[in-house]
Amino acid sequence: MPNDISSMLRSSIGRKWIAAITGLFMIGFVVMHMLGNLQMFAGTPDKINQYAHLLKSMPAVLWAFRMGLILATGLHIWATLTLARENRIAKPQGYAVAGRKSRLQVTWTSVTMVISGSIILGFVIFHLLHFTAQWVDRSYASMETVTGGVPMHDVYRMVVTGFSNPWISGFYLLAMALLFSHLRHGAASVFQTFGVRDHHLAKIIGTGAWILAVALFLGFGAIPVAVLTGVLKP
Ligand code: HEM
Repeated sequence: MPNDISSMLRSSIGRKWIAAITGLFMIGFVVMHMLGNLQMFAGTPDKINQYAHLLKSMPAVLWAFRMGLILATGLHIWATLTLARENRIAKPQGYAVAGRKSRLQVTWTSVTMVISGSIILGFVIFHLLHFTAQWVDRSYASMETVTGGVPMHDVYRMVVTGFSNPWISGFYLLAMALLFSHLRHGAASVFQTFGVRDHHLAKIIGTGAWILAVALFLGFGAIPVAVLTGVLKP
């Protein structure tokens, strides 16, 4: 019912749920994207090129997914920013203790989450202009190859050429480090949202979130590092 939806959106617990669910959806995308990108190490450019070609050959699925991602990103930003603003103006006694954290710690975490989240958003916009729209370097668009008799975009060469620029690689690595920190703190606030009180369970989920964040950092970061060190060559 529309009334239920609007009261859920106005309540802070409703928005915390939205932030958590959209965050999980985006993590799902990022994990799939990292696994797809690791095909850069397959020993042949064909694997990643054919994979990218396959994704592009299903425009309806691709666009449905893109719309879902845009919606999830918009909802996540709106829910987290409105919650952070309300947290800042909340009276101290409304929230003096969150678990074992002080109000100052909670406020500081929320400020760092807004900063890391904004830089990650800036990174994603740059990344889309870089590799998807190919506006940063127009020569990427003409990188073509033929695999199995099929002409396709040479994504492998584009990525290697892109990361040969140390400034661009450095910016990606910075963004990956911020993504790592954002995911770790995000996981901690999900515990509070879902009211995980069991100390043992919270520890298991916390360790899982930490392992995931490290895997994403290493998996994504390996590509620019491999290009800069000459492990991945054009
Ligand atoms: C080393 C790290 C990364 C590499 C090499 C990489 C590579 C790519 C490439 C090649 C594309 C364009 C695919 C194509 O149009 O053919 C792409 C698209 C994209 N990437 Fe990444 N990516 C990296 C990290 C990330 C991260 C950390 C995020 C999110 C936080 C991200 C989000 C996206 C999104 C949203 C798209 C657009 C997908 C679409 O076209 O619908 N990427 N990436």
